[in-house]
Amino acid sequence: MYIKFWRSYGEDKKDVASENLSPESKLSVELEGGKGKQAEGNTRLYRAACLFLTIICLVLLLVVIILSVKLQTGSTVCPERAETAAINRQSPPFAPTCSHKECQALFPNIQPQYRGCQQCADGWLTLDRSCFFLSTFRRSWDDSQKICIAKGGGLAVVTSQRVQSFLAMQGKMQYWIGLRHKGATWTWVNNTVLRESYWADNPLEGDCGILSSEKWFKASCTDYTYFICQVQL
Ligand SMILES: *[C@@H]1O[C@H](CO)[C@@H](O)[C@H](O)[C@H]1NC(C)=O
Repeated sequence: MYIKFWRSYGEDKKDVASENLSPESKLSVELEGGKGKQAEGNTRLYRAACLFLTIICLVLLLVVIILSVKLQTGSTVCPERAETAAINRQSPPFAPTCSHKECQALFPNIQPQYRGCQQCADGWLTLDRSCFFLSTFRRSWDDSQKICIAKGGGLAVVTSQRVQSFLAMQGKMQYWIGLRHKGATWTWVNNTVLRESYWADNPLEGDCGILSSEKWFKASCTDYTYFICQVQL
């Protein structure tokens, strides 16, 4: 009733054709008009919904693209976390990851050559979780150790037959390893006490250790020779 009255009152003078119509037919016209408006409203609603869904689709597409790019380049498997996760038995289904930044923090000096943080740099040898660098130039033991530290590691610590055989097989020269006579004992550069040793029958004299084809020799630390650096992955 209210609508009928309002419509009739408002449109009486505007619409000449509708003046001749009875109030009932006027009402039916208005109702149809209302239906039209309702349909228009629905169309608008559908359009808005379409637009909304389209935007969501585009956003999701963008997310997919960003993630795929990130998985390929930025995000890498973090060796230390991988290890921790394996110990805690919570590794699958997600590979523990660290950002490129964390990777760089782990290996500040050799990072540019690292691919994915888990591989050794070009020119380095890989054994288990270590990278070894056999120098092509000669230095004193101290300078060698400084160079190795600058590369993010230290002179090689040979605590197993496996590493010993590996390095003996790779190197054809005489190399400083991270072994030095301190006080009464021989100690590795990472403060591990010397246990397994591979001294030659006649290892000569000196306070620093040299690896030369299968055997170790002693030499004066100020002598110049090649050296082997080790970086833990
Ligand atoms: C020293 O290095 C050896 C060989 O890489 C490793 O097995 C050992 O755990 C290290 N020790 C310390 C105290 O870092």
